[in-house]
Amino acid sequence: MPKLTILPEGKTIFLSEETPVMEALRDEEIYIKSSCGGVASCSDCVIKVVEGADHCNPPPFEETRLLGNVFHITKERLSCQLKCHGDITIDISRHDKAADESKLQNKTSSFVTKRRTKDDVSKIKEERQIEKENRPEGKEGGKRRPRPFRTDTPPKRRS
Ligand code: FES
Repeated sequence: MPKLTILPEGKTIFLSEETPVMEALRDEEIYIKSSCGGVASCSDCVIKVVEGADHCNPPPFEETRLLGNVFHITKERLSCQLKCHGDITIDISRHDKAADESKLQNKTSSFVTKRRTKDDVSKIKEERQIEKENRPEGKEGGKRRPRPFRTDTPPKRRS
């Protein structure tokens, strides 16, 4: 059974060769960010392979489509697609559950504060009414009308 060493904590777990790394980490209740649930479409689950790159499966097409073919430079892999047949060491320091949750909370709270209440809507209507009343004569919009459809001339026939 391959051994997986997880940095920065230095924790070690064992996983089967058929189990994706993300699944093994989740079984151990280690947080890995994911939006797609492990189907290789979000690229949130990126981890860094620090040691044992030779013991990893080659990146499948879905992974190279997202990350490109630059593993030999970046050492980054999608943990949902990564399987290993030997001991490897990975770095998951970019997956911080607390930071992700606070980001999400900030997004949600800013959305709530931006929502218009009934008072806001009535205030906006009042302001528009005042603006309309204070508009100078002859500057109102809507003076131009579309030309009426003429029915007195027969439509042209195609020859
Ligand atoms: S979990 Fe979405 S790409 Fe891996």
